[in-house]
Amino acid sequence: MNYQWYPGHMTKAMRMMQEDIKLIDLVIEIIDARIPISSRNPDIDKLAQNKSRMILMNKSDLADKSINEAWKKYFEEKGFVCLLIDSKKSMGFKDIKTAVGKACSEKIERDRKKGIINRPLRALVCGIPNVGKSTFINAYAKKACTKTGNKPGVTKGKQWIRLDKTLELLDTPGVLWPKFEDQKVGLHLAMTGSINDEILHSDELCYDLLKYMNDSYQGRIEERYGVEPSEDVIKQLECISVKRGCLVKGGEPDIDKAAKMIIEDFRSGKLGNISVERPEEYV
Ligand code: G4P
Repeated sequence: MNYQWYPGHMTKAMRMMQEDIKLIDLVIEIIDARIPISSRNPDIDKLAQNKSRMILMNKSDLADKSINEAWKKYFEEKGFVCLLIDSKKSMGFKDIKTAVGKACSEKIERDRKKGIINRPLRALVCGIPNVGKSTFINAYAKKACTKTGNKPGVTKGKQWIRLDKTLELLDTPGVLWPKFEDQKVGLHLAMTGSINDEILHSDELCYDLLKYMNDSYQGRIEERYGVEPSEDVIKQLECISVKRGCLVKGGEPDIDKAAKMIIEDFRSGKLGNISVERPEEYV
């Protein structure tokens, strides 16, 4: 399948972020731990110029544990402060405060020299759609949250969430769009659910997904559906349809239904922890 995506509202969202970014010290970039490269937007580097940076690898619960660690090292070697988190279960959150201090150490030092101490740092959370920004903000802010509303000198209408004395989050997540000319990036975004499914063909996506599983996670498909891997993924999907009773009237395999089931099982972790990208492929 040719994975293409033409998002609307891009310019408006980008313009809003350009405004928001003037108010903040730290950009917290949320990426999908299963596809750390494809879920980053290259514009972020330009947008976040001269700001402290931090990467949170979200959905780490769905990705391969050892590959998660390798990715963390990869980003740290590139100079980012990076943490693995699961926003659904609030895992990894306890290290965020220290990591923010580390990411903003230069800024804190500059302030200290100017005699400014204990001024809360202001952060913007950004990432591509569906990466878990809202889940993160809601979960992280749950206990500590106090909305501080408008402040003198701060653009009207901006809501800040005061997490503690040291950190405030801008409560609107910054939405970035995935960018891709590379079909592999498009495929990875589609596999993990970051491209609107309405524009995708489930059967074709499922064939690509089965190929990936047969190559990289041998045994997982057979374990779940009792169907052996095959070079012929069209046949493999047909067999899974039959085994799972996904049939249309007349008893023929309901390919679309079976494809959607497999895609959902893949995305929700029912096929086990899966990383679609590995750091050694991106040196
Ligand atoms: P966004 O603001 O970046 O667009 O993303 P959002 O928070 O809406 O999250 C998108 C989906 O990802 C949600 O699932 C959310 O529950 C899930 N999610 C977010 N963080 C994590 C995580 O760390 N681990 C896992 N496993 N899932 C995560 P949904 O199916 O759209 O909603 P729901 O059925 O979970 O409520």
